[in-house]
Amino acid sequence: MEEDRVVLLRNRFRQLFGTEAALVVRAPGRVNLIGEHTDYNDGYVLPVAIDRSVLLAASPRPDRWVVVHALDFDQRAEFPLDDIVPDDEHPWSNYQRGVAWVLQSAGFTLPGLNMALTSDVPIGAGLSSSAAVEVATAYTWQVLGKLELDRVRLALLCQRAENEFVGMNCGIMDQFISALGQRDSALLIDCRSLDYELVPIPAHTAIIVADTRVRRELVSSEYNTRRRECEEGVHLLQRYLPGIIALRDVSPTQFAEHQAHLPDGVRQRCRHVICENDRVLRAVAALRADDLVTFGRLMDESHASLRNDYQVSCPELDALVMAAWRVKGVYGSRMTGAGFGGCTVSLVDESAVEAFREHVSAAYQAATGTAPEIHVCRAEAGAGVV
Ligand code: GLA
Repeated sequence: MEEDRVVLLRNRFRQLFGTEAALVVRAPGRVNLIGEHTDYNDGYVLPVAIDRSVLLAASPRPDRWVVVHALDFDQRAEFPLDDIVPDDEHPWSNYQRGVAWVLQSAGFTLPGLNMALTSDVPIGAGLSSSAAVEVATAYTWQVLGKLELDRVRLALLCQRAENEFVGMNCGIMDQFISALGQRDSALLIDCRSLDYELVPIPAHTAIIVADTRVRRELVSSEYNTRRRECEEGVHLLQRYLPGIIALRDVSPTQFAEHQAHLPDGVRQRCRHVICENDRVLRAVAALRADDLVTFGRLMDESHASLRNDYQVSCPELDALVMAAWRVKGVYGSRMTGAGFGGCTVSLVDESAVEAFREHVSAAYQAATGTAPEIHVCRAEAGAGVV
């Protein structure tokens, strides 16, 4: 329960710093329903903020230091606001450092802070635990430092902290949804204009996240390789489609016309992104029309495309997805996040949740020898003071 976590966090804060926390901020993890590896191609995504979150308790300090306790690791790190450098010994603290660095580079004056944080977003599972930490940290500084900052700008600054300080070249989706999510809705985000629309999750449906419990080191390097392949695709296609600046600008019909000019790997990557953007828009139309069957079919197609063309799935993700596909009442199921491990997301009729748990757990365990973790998620609001 979130209330219990908040009470425990406040108690720990008091023990650690000898004062009450001035506030507790919550920032959620996310699950993406459809639109994978499209955000850094200026495309469309459809994530929801989930009821798994980072909680951060904080109070201002009179000096220019930041002291952070990571309760889940039982570790402490500290750094001066006037000399922020990455810390290899406490890599988890690079999110606080990166956010402070990026806010100051943007011209904001920050107070020193004492902070304690705890998270129940599983780490490395493709549910954006790092974006949740960044957004919680930035929002805390925004409130305690009275920074004039809207939520879109806050998300962009957190993305910049991740790109330039932490060194992961991610798109905008994760920070955006953690900052701007809305209860009971997904957000259709246009990752070029950063306009967004709420898309309500129909009643009587459950969003189930199933965790392979596989974590792989190669995610960041493979991710950056995919990004480069997409850029190469744009570069090559520009010869035939001179107006384009990202794969977002290429329609499936134009792609079919010019794909023969692309080398094999790049062609597959581009096909995934171009068709996935198209699927997101069709999926949103289906969800708005309460056509869950079509929505689910598009999720399944998205998975096949990520597996075959984008090649970011893995045997464990495929096993979970295939197990889900066999359960009656499951509309659709696919891998979610960057891939190579982590989680799947399934849209399921409420009446089928128990069957899902039973069948998917048993089938995955039979295939891999490990039990998956299964969370039935609720679409929650983005970051805020608790
Ligand atoms: C990670 C990145 C996001 C997005 C997804 C893939 O979660 O942080 O920006 O690119 O992968 O859709």
